[in-house]
Amino acid sequence: RPGRPSSEEPLPPAPWINVIANPQAGFLISETGGGFTWAGNSQMNRLTPWNNDPVSDPPGEVVYLRDEATGDVWTPTPLPLGREAAATVRHGQGYTTFEQQRHGIAQELTLFMAADEPVKLVRLKLRNTTSRRRRLAAAFYAEWVLGGSRDDAPMQVITEQDSESGALFAHNAFASDFAGSVAFADVTLRPHTITADRTEFLGRNGSVSRPAAFAYKHLSGKTGAGLDPCAALQVNVELPPDEERELTFLLGQASTADDCRRLLRQYRTPKQVQAAFDEVRNRWQKLLTTIEVRTPDPALDLLINGWLLYQVQSCRVWGRSAFYQSGGAYGFRDQLQDSMALVYANAAEAREHLLRAAGRQFLEGDVQHWWHPPAGRGVRTRFSDDLLWLPFVAAHYITTTGDAAVLDEQVPFLRAAPLRPEQEEDYGLPEVAPETASLYEHCVRAIEHGSRRGEHGLPLMGTGDWNDGMNRVGAGGKGESVWDAWFLLAILRQWADLAERRGDHERATPWRQLAAELSESVEAQAWDGGWYRRAFFDDGTPLGSSENVECRIDAIAQAWSVISAAAPAERARQAMDAADHLLVRRDARLILLLTPPFDQGTLEPGYIKGYLPGIRENGGQYTHAATWVVDAMARLGRGTRAVELYGLLNPIHHAQTREDVDRYRVEPYVIAADIYSQPPHVGRGGWTWYTGSAAWMYRVALESILGFHLQGDRLRIEPCIAADWREYTITYHRGSATYVIRVENPERLERGAPIVTLDGQRVDDGVIVLADDGREHQVVVRLT
Ligand code: GLC
Repeated sequence: RPGRPSSEEPLPPAPWINVIANPQAGFLISETGGGFTWAGNSQMNRLTPWNNDPVSDPPGEVVYLRDEATGDVWTPTPLPLGREAAATVRHGQGYTTFEQQRHGIAQELTLFMAADEPVKLVRLKLRNTTSRRRRLAAAFYAEWVLGGSRDDAPMQVITEQDSESGALFAHNAFASDFAGSVAFADVTLRPHTITADRTEFLGRNGSVSRPAAFAYKHLSGKTGAGLDPCAALQVNVELPPDEERELTFLLGQASTADDCRRLLRQYRTPKQVQAAFDEVRNRWQKLLTTIEVRTPDPALDLLINGWLLYQVQSCRVWGRSAFYQSGGAYGFRDQLQDSMALVYANAAEAREHLLRAAGRQFLEGDVQHWWHPPAGRGVRTRFSDDLLWLPFVAAHYITTTGDAAVLDEQVPFLRAAPLRPEQEEDYGLPEVAPETASLYEHCVRAIEHGSRRGEHGLPLMGTGDWNDGMNRVGAGGKGESVWDAWFLLAILRQWADLAERRGDHERATPWRQLAAELSESVEAQAWDGGWYRRAFFDDGTPLGSSENVECRIDAIAQAWSVISAAAPAERARQAMDAADHLLVRRDARLILLLTPPFDQGTLEPGYIKGYLPGIRENGGQYTHAATWVVDAMARLGRGTRAVELYGLLNPIHHAQTREDVDRYRVEPYVIAADIYSQPPHVGRGGWTWYTGSAAWMYRVALESILGFHLQGDRLRIEPCIAADWREYTITYHRGSATYVIRVENPERLERGAPIVTLDGQRVDDGVIVLADDGREHQVVVRLT
């Protein structure tokens, strides 16, 4: 971790965290030891407190050690009582480990989730490195929340010691969707003592740095209602010289007390705990190495071969939580985009999410902007793009997996009163309508609802398109979005083909017609002379135009002119030249979303203007959009440029030197949603982990640069790389087979016509037909 910045800036370092989740529950852990645990929903059902405080990073769960001979007390984590000793902290995919050597004891604390169960395991290994026999006490302390915020816990949480298992149970009858659940905390050793009384453990005016319980031999066993509730467990450990002992603290939640007991029985012995650890490590290993690459850029390899997909799966899709945001909800467009990166390693999850999202569509075709599992409370809005991600993502899923049958799955609609004319949004729990339809019909309804156009013939922007912060541009019902036009164009083309394949000409024909009209409108109305405009306000004022003083150019209107494949080639090239020239800042290693930022000008685009200039959407590097710029460069065939820009986005390159680390400050192993672009914070990373850019970083590298194009059981490799890349390999594990694909570039091309051989045989059309035959196949792709 960076420690204090060396510059003048008196800022403390940002926490470097890990988000460790499974489909049911998870936790967050920083390198100091801080963090929190949830089950089911990381916002509505926190088991322990989420503290969004990067300065003190206060721990809501702590493991303590006490030397019974000397009374010394410390923690195996840097906070709250470990800072004097050097510690090695390792964040891995699925676990975090703290190691330190202190008071003659080698300590190793490993935290992980069981692979499939809502159980967090905190394993402590202690080895006596002295020649004396040692007597230690080990304690675990957690503050119960069982809801959204800890403030309500004293009034609502009831605790008891389960006589059968000896575990500490807690429940909260007021925890709406989770009212029936039972939370548990336990330790694998017996005998143990417990208390659920926070005042007993911490003492009056006590704190996690000085808990009163240090002075007691045992905990009192107090549980019940009306306490300021905690889970504290304590055991004694005898350590002969040179010997090692281990114990594991368990924290989780299940539907019933019996389920809790069953879970606890599965993790009693060191062997069981080790088996759980091995299982979860293997699970991650398998998922993250489905596709492995080896390119001339090892920093790119590190991202592709693990961290990006881990960020997507663990944090974005399962956890939906991180340090800077702990939302718990599914964002309609957000997890759909994430799932596009999962089609190779976890297609089942991508499919499941597609159907889950379809179920959040109203009868009228619009959708919930976000919703909370399990019940589905969420918000109905006038965002114009949300609903369109359903057909966009469905098309990608079907193309890559070949699973067109998903379109025939029946999914219900939601029913609620439509928004009143003066209403911009409505939060609530809509009922599930009795009417169901196939996923195909859900997508059709989305396209129809999303095709409403305004005076310039472009899609109405409503209270925002992809850019949440531009919520006033079209709020009056007249403003139009150029980005929406590109997006809709991409969808209409894919879906006209798809409808034709299903024999649905009644839809295909008008969609093609609409696409033609839209194209014409964009070219006639949105071309600004040197690039594409971004939008038109309700009053017709253009945005993202050379006429504007602020936001003269916006990246996504340029990038999507290429991604949609809808712009004429010459204009697309000109638009991307403008983006490269005006939005890429090589000196600061940034790709800006728009420039100049909104500040003192007269335009009122929405809450984007509430951010300081250069922060987040307001003209910072908004990484999600920046990945689209790189994607567009590759799609244009500018491979050298695409690889160069990808390198600008790669967080590893933002933390190569001590100086870099002090400037960037945040984790270099995951993607940051934004990087600040204005002095005095140029180059400082913003909100990490919980960002849709991880999935796009993955796809842009794999699909657009390395050229991995899967269509069911057919694979094409069509690279667009840096001319100085001589060779790279992609290893693809598919079912029982493995394909080792070597791409050779002797002529130093960016694109070139690939000549393909499969196991020594020339493949004329370049399409590799994949088999599930248990063998390893050698593919050579030679660019000529
Ligand atoms: C946030 C939102 C995402 C939106 C983006 C741009 O990441 O979660 O839905 O598209 O910001 O505003």
